[in-house]
This record gives sequence, C-alpha cells and structure tokens, in this order.
Amino acid sequence: AALRSVFQDDFLIGVALGSRVVGGRQAEAETLAARQFSSLTPENEMKWQALHPAPGRYHFEAADAFVAFARRHQMQLVGHALVWHSQTPAWVFQDKDGQALGRDALLARMREHIHTVVGRYRGKVKGWDVVNEALSDGGPDLLRDSPWRRIIGDDYLDHAFRYAREADPQAELYYNDYGLEDPRKRENCLKLLRGLRERGIPVDGVGTQSHFHLHHPPLPEVEKTITALAGLGLKVMVTELDVDVLPSRGDPGIADINRREKAEPALDPYPGPLPDPIQEVLARRYAGLFQVYLRHRDAITRVTFWGLDDGRTWLNHFPIRGRTNHPLLFDRALKPKPAFHAILALK
Ligand code: XIL
Repeated sequence: AALRSVFQDDFLIGVALGSRVVGGRQAEAETLAARQFSSLTPENEMKWQALHPAPGRYHFEAADAFVAFARRHQMQLVGHALVWHSQTPAWVFQDKDGQALGRDALLARMREHIHTVVGRYRGKVKGWDVVNEALSDGGPDLLRDSPWRRIIGDDYLDHAFRYAREADPQAELYYNDYGLEDPRKRENCLKLLRGLRERGIPVDGVGTQSHFHLHHPPLPEVEKTITALAGLGLKVMVTELDVDVLPSRGDPGIADINRREKAEPALDPYPGPLPDPIQEVLARRYAGLFQVYLRHRDAITRVTFWGLDDGRTWLNHFPIRGRTNHPLLFDRALKPKPAFHAILALK
C-alpha cells in the first residue's frame, strides 16, 4: 500500500529529498518516493545558499530538477525556504566593502531574491516557506536575533510575505518553525501570526517542523499546538517530521555534547539495525502522532517527512556528527519499518 493513496482524503503526505536522490539518479529511492508520497520538498536546493550563492549569480539546475520530478510524479512541490538566518551566505548582509548593509539596501536585496526565485517557479510551486525560524527559543524577545532582524527590524517578515505575494499571487505562503509544542514558543508563535494577520500580511498557512524524539514532546502538547494554530484560521502543516531515537542534549548524563566531535559509543547506541523493542516504541510514537493528525484532518493540509530513509537523514549528522540514527519510515535498505505499517494500520 502507498501512503499517498491511503491518506488522500486526509492530507498530502510529503517527503523531503536531497539532490543525491532527485537528479542523482538513485533509481530505487526515486521510485519509492514517487510511489509513496504526494508532496515533495527540496531539502536544501531552494535555500538562498544553493540558489543564489554570490551577488547576481543564480544556480537553478538542482531546483529545476525537483520541479520536473514533482511534475512527472504528480507531487505538489513545496518551496523551502526564502528568508532564514541559516544557509544564507554572509554577502547578503554586506556591501561591496564588507560593511553591514543598511535597511533599504537589504530590503531591496530580499525583494530581488524573492521576485527572481518565486517568479521563476510561478505556477509550479504549490506554496513557499516564506520565513523560516524567526521566533526566539527563549529570552525576553519574541523574535530571534538575526541579521535580517538586526538590519531591517521586526517588520522584515511583513516585507518578505508581501514580496512573495507580489511575485506569485497564486502560491500559498507559509510561516515555518520548530519547537512550537513548547508552551512558551507556541504562545509567541500565536502572537506573531496574529500580528501578521492584523496588519493584513498575506500568510496562508503555518508549518510546524516536528523534529521530534521518541518521548518528547508529549502528544497533548503536539495536539494543543495544532488546535491553537488551526484556531487562527490558517492551514496547518507538519513540514519536517522525524523522530530522533538517539540520546540528545537534554538527556541525563550527556549534557555537554560537543557537536563538532565524533560521537562516543554511548551516544551512538544502535550502529547496526535498530533493536526490535525500540522499533516498536518508534512505531507506537508514529501511530500516536498520526492519530492526532487524523483527528485534525480538517485543519491539516500536509504531513511531510524530513527524509525518505534512515541512510539519508540529516539526523545522522545533527546535533552530533557521525551517528547512526533511525528516525524515518524506511530503513537503510529502503525497507518499510514497523512504523510504516503502524501508520497504515490506522486507516
Ligand atoms: C537541514 C538539511 O536536512 C540538511 O541536509 C542541511 O545540512 C541543514 O538543513 N530546519 C529546516 C531545514 O528548516 O531546512 C533543515 O534542513 C533542518 C532544520
């Protein structure tokens, strides 16, 4: 059975892929992705760094391959991401002499980038993550400190959404962030989105990334976030779902992980196949999440997994390099895991 058809009356089921798969001619992975998923997000290929690495220089080949792949396999394409503090080259915020750019110059640069990129893919991209990860993780401020905010001010989001709407009036426009299940960040997110709406800024949907762990966040917090976001009248999307099964920063005993160092064995406990009991815990975790998603199928328009299989997940390298993670529905041989069957069994 295929996820995309089983959930077709509920929401799109998406996958994020890298250019090693799309355009990389990894035929088996391509076939599996196209068969299982109805939405596609380029994992890195539409980020500023990839599309626009130097002033006036654009590289569209990799992104174009995603558009063609999505079209060929009747998948919706999600553009990720236009304005973000990460994977954005330093030159964006500097003038020719390496001095910090002024507000008007940076706004002009943002507008040019958005118009060029969104304009190129007009009619081909279903929606864009217009602003990614603008909220702070704590501290007194609503917004995180970033060059966008420092140079332009808090209204940088307003401009980004307006430029995107100008460039493609048909495309859906999303705000995307992680950790929205934390009550404080959830409140901040609601405040941010209400503000955008009150100012008449064109925002159609909100993405909750959902980089989760086996036991965190608790399902009731996941559900509260969906309910609260849906209450704003926005489309709600789960945009980057995965479930990290390895010890993490917050776990007892490993508080001081140095993310630049290769993992110690204690931090990489499953270098071979994931043991059966943990597979079962992972399967139950995914089933629990999908039960919540199905309850909110009227608000949720898409659930996207951040990767196809455990061999290619970014969690093998984050937050510690060189580990063996098992966060997705397909294992390193592209075989469906118990988690895959657990999700299908809900229908
Ligand atoms: C990650 C990619 O998966 C990695 O390949 C890359 O090295 C770093 O970025 N939040 C996001 C995504 O919005 O763009 C990030 O993707 C994961 C966290």
